[in-house]
Formats: sequence, structure tokens, C-alpha cells
Amino acid sequence: MPKMLNLMVACAENRVMGRGTRLPWHIPEDLKVFHEETAGKSIILGRICYETWPRARQDGRRLVVVSSNPALATEGVQVARSVPEALAMAEALPGETYVNGGERIFGEILALERPMRLHLTQVHAVVDGDIYFPEWRHIPWRETSRRESSDANFRYTFLTLERILGPQAS
Ligand SMILES: NC(=O)c1ccc[n+]([C@@H]2O[C@H](COP(=O)([O-])OP(=O)(O)OC[C@H]3O[C@@H](n4cnc5c(N)ncnc54)[C@H](OP(=O)(O)O)[C@@H]3O)[C@@H](O)[C@H]2O)c1
Repeated sequence: MPKMLNLMVACAENRVMGRGTRLPWHIPEDLKVFHEETAGKSIILGRICYETWPRARQDGRRLVVVSSNPALATEGVQVARSVPEALAMAEALPGETYVNGGERIFGEILALERPMRLHLTQVHAVVDGDIYFPEWRHIPWRETSRRESSDANFRYTFLTLERILGPQAS
């Protein structure tokens, strides 16, 4: 059985998770949870996510950036040309693997029949943007935790979902 994969994302009710190269909101509590949860982990992420996340290489994260540009490789950063190559690199590293997007990478990972855990911050708003978290609700999941929260601008729910595989999925 392959190792558990973790996906971590915040998305709006209309599945928007990005606007251009930026997040479409500023939710400090979500950023804090994201940084704490991914610290010390092996992270698979797309080139834009890498270039727009200044703290990516801090806090003991080991990065596998999916890109056609091998020159991005540096200390603590490996470059993979595809998602399967990124998975092989990340899973050869010690500790848990987290997938942090963007859109195509999440899509390819969600299409895999393998153990995965989705750390989802559901932002209870319809938000303008052009980068979407792929549809996940048709996949069978078991909810393992839920916490409601809010700030001055948004209500949001921190959810942890584990994929149901095999005969239990039908
Ligand atoms: N709300 C959230 O939790 C969350 C999470 C993640 C991202 N985001 C948002 O999403 C946006 C960034 O994501 P994005 O989807 O636009 O870009 P991205 O995936 O970070 O970067 C795109 C680039 O990564 C490489 N790439 C991506 N998928 C690939 C694949 N399957 N195979 C080969 N190469 C691949 C290519 O790099 P090269 O061009 O170098 O070849 C591609 O041009 C930002 O707005 C960000 O804020 C939000």
C-alpha cells in the first residue's frame, strides 16, 4: 500500500483558491495553520506556488518543485518535471508528504486511487478568482475532524477528510 499523501488547501464555496499568482484573501489564522502543519514536511508544489511563497524553504520544509526549469534546484529544493516524478522524489525523503498545489497538481493527485488526507479550509463565501481547487466532493471521504472559525471578513471551517478506498468506497 502506498504511503498516505496529504493535500492542503483553502478554497471558497465556488472552489476558488487563487487570483492570478496570489491568494484571493488574507486569512491570518489559515496562514498560521498552514505554516504550522507543513513545517518539517516534504512538500510538492508547482513553480508559481514556490515562487510566491517566501517562507517555503524555512521551518525545515524539503521542497519538490514541479517545473520544466531545472535551474530552480538549490539547497533543500529538488525539481521534478512531472507529478509522478515529484511523488517519487518526495516519498524518498524522510517524513510525511504534503501536496500544496496548484490547480493541475491537485487535479492529478486527486485522480490517483491511493491513501490521501485532505486538509481543507472551506471559506464560506463566493470569491472572485481564476484558480480553482478541482472538484473533490464526488470522491468518497470520511471526515475525521472539523473546527469552525471566523475573522472580521470570513467564516471558514477547518476540515480533515480521509479518502475511503476499496469496497467501502461504493
Ligand atoms: N488557497 C490555497 O490553499 C492555494 C493553494 C495552492 C495555490 N493557490 C493559488 O494558486 C495559484 C498558483 O497555482 P497555479 O495552479 O496557478 O500554479 P502552480 O501549479 O503553482 O505553477 C504552475 C507551474 O508549475 C508547473 N506545473 C504545474 N503543474 C504541472 C504538471 N502537472 N506537470 C508539469 N509541470 C507542472 C509548470 O511550471 P513551468 O512553467 O516552470 O514548467 C507550471 O507553469 C496562486 O493564485 C496561489 O495563490 C492557493
